[in-house]
Amino acid sequence: MKRERAVRLTIVGFGHVGGGVAEVIMRKHQELKEIYGLDLRIVGIADLKGVTINEKGLSEPEIAKFRDGSVLAGMSTEDMIREVEHELMVEATPTNVVDGEPGVTHIVTALESGRHVVTSNKGPLALQYRRLTELAERHGRELRFEATVGGAMPLISMIRNNLAGNRIISIKGILNGTCNYILTRMGEENLPYEHVLREAQEIGIAESDPTKDVEGIDTAVKLVILANAVFDMDVTYRDVKVRGITEITPDALKLAHDAGYAIKLIGDVDDEGRLEVAPRLVPLGDPLNVNGTLNVATIRTDLAGDITVIGKGAGPIEAASAILSDIIGIYAR
Ligand code: HSE
Repeated sequence: MKRERAVRLTIVGFGHVGGGVAEVIMRKHQELKEIYGLDLRIVGIADLKGVTINEKGLSEPEIAKFRDGSVLAGMSTEDMIREVEHELMVEATPTNVVDGEPGVTHIVTALESGRHVVTSNKGPLALQYRRLTELAERHGRELRFEATVGGAMPLISMIRNNLAGNRIISIKGILNGTCNYILTRMGEENLPYEHVLREAQEIGIAESDPTKDVEGIDTAVKLVILANAVFDMDVTYRDVKVRGITEITPDALKLAHDAGYAIKLIGDVDDEGRLEVAPRLVPLGDPLNVNGTLNVATIRTDLAGDITVIGKGAGPIEAASAILSDIIGIYAR
């Protein structure tokens, strides 16, 4: 029997991802105690509606009431992060690639208050990676962000842990499920672009502003997180050469297919400083040719050769999978 350790956490941002994290933590509470000795308690939740707190751990009915708009404590999100005693904050507010807010402020406040941070929010990492990781280090706290790139697909931890000792030469892949879905549907059904974009919005994987997906910005943001975290660069998404998929037509997809290729929106980063997002011809038999909402990345290394990971890059439970593995990674070493 593992020695049990109670870990109090707060969730900031209670949309699809924050809700998914709460659901998974509730569902797996007993299993996490038995396997990892971790007794995870959600002691506070905050979103635009307000804040709810229970220092002993919120129950499922209390969380449901908060979701419906009641049981609000009279404090701001930042006060909750500072004043409610907890060990770890999950930051899951929506991505903002203009200034990273409110995520940046939440992360800074949490680290300065001595909390570990696990986030799915791409904006803060894509704009202020160096500042935030240095702040975490100064305060002796962890900042983990597996969910920001490729959703459930293990990438950052896999490179850091399982590929330790390898030199990473390049990472290349499909990092946006919305674009992959659009290109797949347009190619298979000869459907117009606007129609399939609407479908991608309906299944809930597109950004709130879907131009971020189709113009390649979301892929660029994820590439930058990889560039900073894996290649130790100090770049923002403005340093990426970006071309999106808005000019790809069903005819172009058909022509490519007849010649033995698929057109995919590929992000590409390497150890010589290449940082590019563009539609590329991918041979139909290539491991990067995955369809639908899937993401994929091929990591080229000096010892292990090429490793390709395929998985679900978007979705609340998928993001929660990455967040949970980051939380466990902090405590169950
Ligand atoms: N809009 C993103 C995508 C969500 O389609 O991949 C996950 O970051």
